[in-house]
Amino acid sequence: MNTIKAALICQGSVSSQWTIEAMKKYFEVVDELSIKHVETVIAEKSIEVLHHGTPLQPYDCIYAKGSYRYESLLRSITEACFDRCYMPIHPETFSIGHDKLLTHLALQRKNVPMPKTYVTTSIASTRGILEKVTYPIIMKFTKGTQGKGVMFAESLTSASTLLDAMDVLKQPLIIQEYIETGGVDTRAFVIGDQVVAACRRSAAEGDVRSNIHAGAEGEKIMLDAKSRRIAVDTAQAVGADICAVDMVQGPHGPLVLEVNLSPGLQGITKISGVDIAAKIAAFLYEQTRLRKTSQKKEKEVAVLEELGILGDKASTQKISGMIVPAEMRGERLLLPKNVTHVAELREKDELQISVEKGKIDIRKL
Ligand SMILES: Nc1ncnc2c1ncn2[C@@H]1O[C@H](COP(=O)(O)OP(=O)(O)O)[C@@H](O)[C@H]1O
Ligand SMILES: [Mg+2]
Repeated sequence: MNTIKAALICQGSVSSQWTIEAMKKYFEVVDELSIKHVETVIAEKSIEVLHHGTPLQPYDCIYAKGSYRYESLLRSITEACFDRCYMPIHPETFSIGHDKLLTHLALQRKNVPMPKTYVTTSIASTRGILEKVTYPIIMKFTKGTQGKGVMFAESLTSASTLLDAMDVLKQPLIIQEYIETGGVDTRAFVIGDQVVAACRRSAAEGDVRSNIHAGAEGEKIMLDAKSRRIAVDTAQAVGADICAVDMVQGPHGPLVLEVNLSPGLQGITKISGVDIAAKIAAFLYEQTRLRKTSQKKEKEVAVLEELGILGDKASTQKISGMIVPAEMRGERLLLPKNVTHVAELREKDELQISVEKGKIDIRKL
């Protein structure tokens, strides 16, 4: 196989450095591209990604990530490159994952459990909701991370005061039932269809937000099967092969709060003892290799179809001289599908078989 090239488009954090170093153990070329120097040009028939003003060279794998501030750029980059190489995060996922409301809508579509969430647009309708909900509640901006846009209101009075303050910022917000957890949440790190590490985070004294950045402490946990399933379902619902899923334990099981598309590795690596960067790199490489192999197969099939040996064209034709490796199930020989199609053989057909060394003749009676 030719040289396998990868790029990490990122903001240059320590987590990104770890990922780059780990990727170098698998890919022959790994380029770090600072998202600050990347731009996209969209025209009627083309969408191009530029790095320092020059078109991006072809890569087999591009892992693009960054904070919610880069949502539009990350989406554009991924729209441009998604069909050309392996990218672990789908284009629309950047819009979904960087917006808590869109995340909840995507999760709802796949029946992933979450706290009851209210959406409003006007201040007047928000007041209407605040009057009918059961307290305490959580109010949060739909965009933003690290606990900074999350507020706790224990009564209508405090919620109204918060609403007045939030209204000044003119940012969309959601209202959510408060799940009493004693300030504890769970972060599951998902790669592919597996949770590779998980930790429980406890909020600092007097806080309800269990973000490590907000001063919370973390401890390693073995996640139960149900939470693991929910975390993987969440990743698939939003379209991310690599992400972290934040959950709280509700009275009837885990409830998903949000997805992080560019999760920090330092905290969870230290707490869990799992080398997450290594797992990410191995996964990226495996997916890239699989993509390349399946592309090669597709090309081969296209050539065979063109020759009338495989596919629809073959069904009315004759095959002669096809060379294939013998496929055996134990001592029994399996014939390729198109052989059965062209010969129009069906289960239980009566066959007359004549065999000699190195030669089989099969006739339908
Ligand atoms: N509905 C909720 N019930 C209880 N705690 C919550 C709720 N929503 C958020 N929290 C707490 O606040 C923290 C931050 O909320 P989250 O939705 O993950 O936003 P952020 O993007 O700021 O991390 C969570 O980790 C959790 O500890
Ligand atoms: Mg969070």
